[in-house]
Amino acid sequence: MVRCIRVPKAAGEKVRRALIDAGELDPGHCIRVDGDSLLIPTTGDGMGYPVEDDELKAQTHAPTDYREIAEVPAALKDELPSSFDTVGDIAILKLEEPLLPYRHAVGTALLRVLPNLRAVFLDGGVKGEFRIRDLEKIAGEGTSETVHRETGTRMLTDPSVVYFNSRLANERARVAGLVCPGEVIIDMFAGVAPFGTVICKHAAPKVVYSIDLNPACERFMRENMRLNHIDNLVPITGDAVQAVRDLPSADRIIMNLPQIADRFLATALSKLKPTGTIHMHKILECTELPVFEQQLKKQMATAGYEIRIVQVTELKSYSPTMSVYVFDIQSEPLTASVSV
Ligand SMILES: C[S@@+](CC[C@H](N)C(=O)[O-])C[C@H]1O[C@@H](n2cnc3c(N)ncnc32)[C@H](O)[C@@H]1O
Repeated sequence: MVRCIRVPKAAGEKVRRALIDAGELDPGHCIRVDGDSLLIPTTGDGMGYPVEDDELKAQTHAPTDYREIAEVPAALKDELPSSFDTVGDIAILKLEEPLLPYRHAVGTALLRVLPNLRAVFLDGGVKGEFRIRDLEKIAGEGTSETVHRETGTRMLTDPSVVYFNSRLANERARVAGLVCPGEVIIDMFAGVAPFGTVICKHAAPKVVYSIDLNPACERFMRENMRLNHIDNLVPITGDAVQAVRDLPSADRIIMNLPQIADRFLATALSKLKPTGTIHMHKILECTELPVFEQQLKKQMATAGYEIRIVQVTELKSYSPTMSVYVFDIQSEPLTASVSV
């Protein structure tokens, strides 16, 4: 038998909504029509309507969109996010201010429709030079440490301790596809080494030096080497500018620090073999692209490098008018001016 309240049909929708707002609707059972009344399954004390037991049918429709079952006020339904990130078995989502009091209901709804999820975290944004996320658990169990699967690899990460972006899977696979056997690669801003892990797993580089300033990254890098049976990745904790000084010249350099990577380009060029390629990430206004390219070439010429931008790819949008781009850059010997 199922606990329910008897409500006049005319008041049915209003009461159903009030039960949702109060978190007292039992979503596991169907509402039944009985003459002029509705029997609405509830977990509460009835909201002033008579409470009784009835053989209400179990809800068999399995919703696939968490927004269908999220117990939030009707007026806020449209503000529920239509997308969110998943990393391993956790989901990370942003909520608008009015939905914050209902964050646990939102998290619970996500767990109900996505049984592979273990926990849901509210995203408070990325902060500081380590680019780590401010996360609050709103449903589920355990911490935000998780194993993420990507392109045939498994990567331990924890977005509250180290930077991780599951949306760069295509870019990591693209770069891995460009790597020739025996390449020396430097990843200047490596995080938990997702680029290095995918490259070592799917290409045959001689070595990938994976540098990160955040001391927490090294444990994850080493664990990812173990998880993926990799022995040609070298984790380095420290500042990229200092660390590259002691490294050999590279065939390929990855620069995923999209706010300010261009400030490190001259350092990267100083370590690039003549035939090498740099993959530099950069956030830009879409309209700024041509000006940025010209300025970058000028700045590098002043630093003593002639560069060729061989390809620009938009990786993801960053705001309504800005995107993250990756610039594939090669260096050319400076053409000496000849005076006659
Ligand atoms: C946007 S994240 C990229 C992480 C990784 N490439 C990925 O795809 O997940 C940038 C990383 O650069 C690191 N970082 C910031 N400044 C640095 C510096 N001067 N030298 C080395 N690493 C730095 C941060 O700790 C962060 O992990």
